[in-house]
Amino acid sequence: MDNEIQKVTHVQNIRYDRQAEALYIIDQTLLPNEEREICLQTAEEMYDAIKALKVRGAPAIGICAGYCMYVLAKSVRTEDQQVFLRKLGEYGEYLNSSRPTAVNLSWAIRSMLRTAVENVGCTRGQMLDALYEKAVSIHRDDIDKCTKISEFGLTLIKDGDGILTHCNAGPLATSRYGTALGPILLGTERGMKFKVFSDETRPLLQGARLTSYELQRAGVDVTLICDNMASMVMKNGWVQACFVGCDRVAANGDTANKIGTSGVAILAKHYGIPFYVLGPTSTVDMDCPAGDDIKIELRDPEEIKTMWYEKPMALPEVQCYNPAFDVTDHSLIAGIVTEEGVIRPPYDKNLKKLFARKG
Ligand code: MRU
Repeated sequence: MDNEIQKVTHVQNIRYDRQAEALYIIDQTLLPNEEREICLQTAEEMYDAIKALKVRGAPAIGICAGYCMYVLAKSVRTEDQQVFLRKLGEYGEYLNSSRPTAVNLSWAIRSMLRTAVENVGCTRGQMLDALYEKAVSIHRDDIDKCTKISEFGLTLIKDGDGILTHCNAGPLATSRYGTALGPILLGTERGMKFKVFSDETRPLLQGARLTSYELQRAGVDVTLICDNMASMVMKNGWVQACFVGCDRVAANGDTANKIGTSGVAILAKHYGIPFYVLGPTSTVDMDCPAGDDIKIELRDPEEIKTMWYEKPMALPEVQCYNPAFDVTDHSLIAGIVTEEGVIRPPYDKNLKKLFARKG
């Protein structure tokens, strides 16, 4: 059983093979039917992998972007460091334009560019080594943060609890335990039992394809439900807490996460169930005052009408609105679980305090 859990928590969703000098990701669009690695070599392949959700989940996108920037830096063949910086900056801008909502993407790209600037004057080899080390440290840091988030999250639930989650914030979306699924996997590893309800998460089905896949393989009691069944399981008294991930947390605690999350939070409030957001502090954007300032990605209507069906499920001319994320108002959130601990309301004051302490 422990081995089964390890297979899930230690999945190598993103890995840089130093010998082969190649970046590999598990193509998440193929799951749960096929676990296949693909190699990302060009900027276009990287852009496409992020845009098409082959690599997805805010922290995983950040980790992948770090390695992508390293691979792209290696491809810039010039001794002129100003030309090198300009070209790397252009690659960063291009990758950053693939998905606008998750802050981890721009955060990781900025960190890589800062490292490049800090190493101006070094040899090309030293510059590339520094960039590689930075990418690895972004990855290692996330492993460490996810482990701490899982520990803090575990203090909020007890053996036997029912937990509802939306989308996928497990190891595939991050590194190691994940964020929202972290406490569940860590607790299970320690012999605790939970009953998890996984929203299927229309339209791209991350809950069905990824969350139920990860939890089932880890030996967790998981029940897949359609998104519109969340109210029913809450009303039945089967849910003691909601755990979700996040793509960007504004300075006032408003949180962008997968479309449908805010509905879950509203339902949880109605039924008196605590609703927790779990994520690393790298997902908190203190430059973003409130949820209204978060750019929400709009996606192709075909994801709703045709993507999962043998035949179209709506007339071609029917209009669709397909936002990939929504914003949960901070008033609905019982706590934001970070690697620094559980942040409670008032979020504007407590997030500011946290970042002042971190420096
Ligand atoms: O569109 P996706 O699949 O990238 O959306 C992912 C989510 O909304 C996750 O909940 C979020 O990124 C947190 S992952 C730890």
